[in-house]
Amino acid sequence: MRIAPSLLAGDLARIADEAARCRNGRADFLHLDVMDGHFVPNLTFGAPVVAALAEHTDVPLDIHLMVSNPDLLLDDYLAVRPARLAVHWETVPHMDRLLARIREAGVEAGVAVNPATDIECLRSVLPLTDFVLFMTVNPGFAGQTFISHIFTKMKRFREMIDGDSVSVGMAVDGGVGPDTIRRVAEAGADLAVVGSAVFGAGEPEQAIARLRKLAKGAE
Ligand code: DX5
Ligand code: ZN
Repeated sequence: MRIAPSLLAGDLARIADEAARCRNGRADFLHLDVMDGHFVPNLTFGAPVVAALAEHTDVPLDIHLMVSNPDLLLDDYLAVRPARLAVHWETVPHMDRLLARIREAGVEAGVAVNPATDIECLRSVLPLTDFVLFMTVNPGFAGQTFISHIFTKMKRFREMIDGDSVSVGMAVDGGVGPDTIRRVAEAGADLAVVGSAVFGAGEPEQAIARLRKLAKGAE
């Protein structure tokens, strides 16, 4: 299981230091929650901050765009050369065009889906999608409770991709921690985004290592 700490749950005044701690803890990606105060009821940081952080870390970036107008803003984030970038299904009327733009930039293209969004809509864009980001909270804030009925959705999604013989990664975001990460791994996720359980539990380095072990069922 790959781990992407969500810096939103860290000290935002010391974001580069938090990134360094994640690097020491061998985080696979840094998850960056871009919120616009419109699609979600919170406002975090934008492209200038993400670009500034990119100068201070060599951990690959995993950008999660929670904005109403990703079409307009996308290029600013692609310019930062992240490893992965997810846009929300609920915000994009022309998803195939947007996913193609992300891939053309050499970035893995993801579709994020809110807890209430059905996955059947994803079928038509599967060939253009590198990963689906299953939201296990209603996006907007770190520290919320994991919504476990998403496991049913993940199971149906696995059946869908197996049936269509396509390979699409599965990432989970929201409320993942020591109590949930094993089930997340068993449900087929190859990446867990973790905020509070990395930054709110003592040393992030140790928290990441422990979560990795728990995902394997090794603790
Ligand atoms: C929620 C964000 C998440 C969040 C994760 O809207 O997309 O990435 O920061 O934090 P935890 O793990 O605390 O739910
Ligand atoms: Zn996120």
